[in-house]
Amino acid sequence: MDQRTNELRAAFKHAFGSDPQAAVRAPGRVNLIGEHTDYNDGFCLPMAIERDVLIVYRPRSDTTVRVQSLQQKNLEIFDVGPSEGKRIHKSSQVSARWADYIKGCAQVLREEGLKLHGIDMALTGDVPLGSGLSSSAALEVATLHALLGANGLTFSAEKIAKLAQRAENTYVGINCGILDQLSSACAVQGQAMLMDCRTLALTPAPLPKGLSVVIADTGKRRGLVESQYNERRSQCEAGAKALGVSHLRDATMHGLWQARQAGKLDAAAVKRCEHVVAENGRTVAAFACLTSGNGEALGQLMDQSHADLRDKFEVSCRELDDMSAIARSLPGCLGSRMTGAGFGGCTVSLVRDESAPAFASELATAYKRLHDLPMAVYVTRAAAGAGPVPLA
Ligand code: GLA
Repeated sequence: MDQRTNELRAAFKHAFGSDPQAAVRAPGRVNLIGEHTDYNDGFCLPMAIERDVLIVYRPRSDTTVRVQSLQQKNLEIFDVGPSEGKRIHKSSQVSARWADYIKGCAQVLREEGLKLHGIDMALTGDVPLGSGLSSSAALEVATLHALLGANGLTFSAEKIAKLAQRAENTYVGINCGILDQLSSACAVQGQAMLMDCRTLALTPAPLPKGLSVVIADTGKRRGLVESQYNERRSQCEAGAKALGVSHLRDATMHGLWQARQAGKLDAAAVKRCEHVVAENGRTVAAFACLTSGNGEALGQLMDQSHADLRDKFEVSCRELDDMSAIARSLPGCLGSRMTGAGFGGCTVSLVRDESAPAFASELATAYKRLHDLPMAVYVTRAAAGAGPVPLA
């Protein structure tokens, strides 16, 4: 048993007076390419990272849920019993908003018609919050594993991902796609995955030999709710409608040009749609680079992706542009881009193994000269998807 599990066990005992019975974990993710494509039924290329949410729990015989987070002072308590169709109350205090991800998961399980027993749980996480590495999805997917485990149920990883997404869409109120939850639930150790967000088919492929994935957190935080995420999604939906397709996955550059000529799309809408159409093509091409071991070509696609996210989709920011530009200028870097929703958070760079240590320290030094923010650099391997872990 590792030190983290030990610490969490002790916190559980302290909060609830007994030992936990089981443990589950769910990882964060980094998306190598395929950004703002998931809700357009397109393609993404994520992998899970070596940072996760870990939960230890014990089922209860009543319908009370008690949650102790190692990162928060207060114990959160709510009830999952039948309540004449009423939803579980959302947290009124900003400091307790993290608990809404947990409540949302219980809520969607109730909506599935399940009569839930309660649970005591203690949790800890090391996915940095609001950084584009899917701390929310990790919390949702781990929570669903714990709630299902405490109720003696097993669902497929894909079903868990869909329920986690529904919790975020309908309870937390962010209209996210399936990328984060499906990555956390289904990732394969040592592999990235081509994700087809229309069919939810996942095709794993290993990273080319000799290359490291380096994540750099700009220290600039964004909240998806406050950000323009939902607005971008509506713009894409409006674009698809104007083009007469169900999703931008089915759009082409030629179709976009025709719609522009016919006055069906304005210049701003065309830019948004162009990013999505090009990004889908880049993502499928990037997968081919993985299978053929062509790191250079993959790096170039990552650079192009960043440029479009900055200039056409307009979800980058000064900090992300600076971090990725510095990365590209350093020896051994094949490509660099923002990852996740944007507006702050992290970049992902592809770096030759032998250059990675110097790359990490030079990137940090150069970035700190430009921005006085709590930045961090992580070199990560591709971790396994969510599931139970041994408690003892
Ligand atoms: C966030 C969302 C995902 C996806 C990315 C952008 O991470 O949760 O569904 O849309 O942004 O690619």
